[in-house]
Amino acid sequence: MEWSQTLSTILSIIFFFIMIAVIYAQFRKRKSADKNKTLEEFDGIIEKDAPIPRILFIGYFLGFAGAIVYVLLFPGFATWGGFLNWQPKDDAYVGSPVNLDAKIDELVVGKTDKQVFEALIDYEDIVSNGRALFGVNCGACHGRSGDGQHNFPVLSDDDWLYGGSPMDVYTTIHNGREGRMPAWRDVLTEDEIDSLTDYVSNLNSDNFVFNESFNNNCSTCHGEDAKGNQGVGAPNLTDDVWLHGGSKEDIRKNIAQGIDNQMPGFGERLTRNQIMSLTTYIMSLQPDTETLIASNDDDSYLLSRNELPLPSSVSVCTSCHGKDGNSVIPGAPNLAGLKFEYIYNQIHLFDNGNRDNATMKGMVTHLSDQDRVLVAKYYASLNPPEPDNHRPEVPENGVITDPTERMVYQGDWKRAIPACTTCHGERLEGSASFPRLAGQSSVYLVEQFNNWRSGARKGDQGEMMYNVAKKLSSKEIEDLSKYLSELK
Ligand code: HEC
Ligand code: HEC
Ligand code: HEC
Ligand code: HEC
Repeated sequence: MEWSQTLSTILSIIFFFIMIAVIYAQFRKRKSADKNKTLEEFDGIIEKDAPIPRILFIGYFLGFAGAIVYVLLFPGFATWGGFLNWQPKDDAYVGSPVNLDAKIDELVVGKTDKQVFEALIDYEDIVSNGRALFGVNCGACHGRSGDGQHNFPVLSDDDWLYGGSPMDVYTTIHNGREGRMPAWRDVLTEDEIDSLTDYVSNLNSDNFVFNESFNNNCSTCHGEDAKGNQGVGAPNLTDDVWLHGGSKEDIRKNIAQGIDNQMPGFGERLTRNQIMSLTTYIMSLQPDTETLIASNDDDSYLLSRNELPLPSSVSVCTSCHGKDGNSVIPGAPNLAGLKFEYIYNQIHLFDNGNRDNATMKGMVTHLSDQDRVLVAKYYASLNPPEPDNHRPEVPENGVITDPTERMVYQGDWKRAIPACTTCHGERLEGSASFPRLAGQSSVYLVEQFNNWRSGARKGDQGEMMYNVAKKLSSKEIEDLSKYLSELK
């Protein structure tokens, strides 16, 4: 933006001299005016000629001189800071993310997420940058300093819907949250709702009393002890904090009508570093900042690896596909290294049955489109190392000797099979429509060829892979899968 500041300074200077010239010319022109001369007379009103009063001239002069002194002392002259070297102190102006960006980028390298926040919390300017961002983006709902309001949670106490470790908060800001409680008026009778309202209003953390109706209907989300469940954002009902009002009327209305409360996601609007500043600011508001930071997982490296946080509704995927996208059970593929478009499309294929797999169908049918996008983005953001180039030397006759390597890098034109690398990339690294094959589990790869041959897997555009798979022998499939799984 330097050029625009310089340009506007030059234009201002030109304008300044034009103004001086115009005023000076006016005064000279009017200097010899005769105050006894009548210029015009209309309806008894007489307009006389006169020089411009001296006091106006002095006023202009003082104004111009003041302006010159101001730009010499304070910032205003292009990018020059002025003789006083004045710095803005107001919070609203401290949010210059430009130099903080470099600082944060440097600070995250190689650190766990916990270590990152242990370091960030000590930087005064990062906290105040977070405060400024908070005022602009969050204050309208959460109050200027996070003190909340009806339906919008307080962010400065130790009562959390979704968990208060820095990465819980970071995940909330990045992905957004949706707290949903079903309406009970069609499920329960008026009397049952009344008695549950009484029960819930009198719940007390020191002295929990069992209630059958609560246990049957409410404990799956709010917990058997009614202390809530951060996995689904169900609040603790035994404390005195009421997000949607604590009067009996409010509580009854919420139980009867249900709740749908949304926090928008900021992952698209704010940068990683801005969300980190915001999280640091929210940590700084806590009564027990250090304990909260210490409660973060020891082995998460999301920030330093520039990965996206996993939405809680799909955290179940990690039990088979791993947090880092590397399969933790035999037969489940590695998702790290697959691209967004491919993952998103496969979820769709499992859902509509083109990929016939009961486990995966069960995993994805209930996912909203937003969750599908989030999970696909998450796994696509896990960047495993680029595979090495394994292409073998081509002998004089032009045909690679090893049959498996030949199939991968040259294909088999007699059977009209193009080289696997034509579609899957020179190093089998994959792209948006073609999955990465390098390093994929061999059990899984064999299974896929068999699925195409049996018709259990469809939906590949133009039957590209089906046409390849149907021509391969079982031995070739074994060898190819083993070869591909061992590529690093
Ligand atoms: C349009 C209103 C709105 C805006 C803007 C908004 N939030 Fe929220 N936020 C909510 C609501 C509503 C919830 C509660 C969601 C729920 O009940 O499931 C919430 C929840 C949260 C939570 C989780 C609290 C807990 O107890 O776990 C955090 C943290 C949070 N917001 C931070 C922010 C930050 C930081 C910003 C600005 C970048 C922001 N919010 C902007 C409405 C908003
Ligand atoms: C499917 C999960 C689920 C079930 C089952 C459920 N709740 Fe909820 N409940 C929630 C969630 C999530 C919220 C918070 C909504 C939000 O984000 O604001 C909530 C909020 C509430 C609130 C408002 C709390 C506040 O702070 O204002 C009350 C009261 C409540 N539930 C009572 C009940 C009762 C009574 C039952 C059983 C009849 C029940 N809930 C069953 C998920 C559930
Ligand atoms: C119980 C274990 C399990 C869980 C949990 C699970 N998956 Fe899977 N996933 C599998 C298996 C097994 C396959 C291979 C299916 C096949 O052979 O077609 C698979 C395949 C996939 C594929 C295809 C990858 C490729 O290379 O084509 C995607 C994408 C995927 N899963 C995403 C998810 C998502 C998203 C979730 C969470 C909502 C999830 N999975 C949860 C076991 C699981
Ligand atoms: C004409 C392009 C093309 C060629 C050549 C090709 N593939 Fe594919 N392959 C695809 C496409 C497209 C998909 C994804 C299908 C889908 O979207 O369901 C795919 C998917 C696969 C998968 C499934 C991977 C996963 O994560 O689920 C395997 C395994 C595979 N190819 C192996 C091979 C091998 C081995 C060769 C060489 C013998 C080869 N492909 C040649 C286009 C090709």
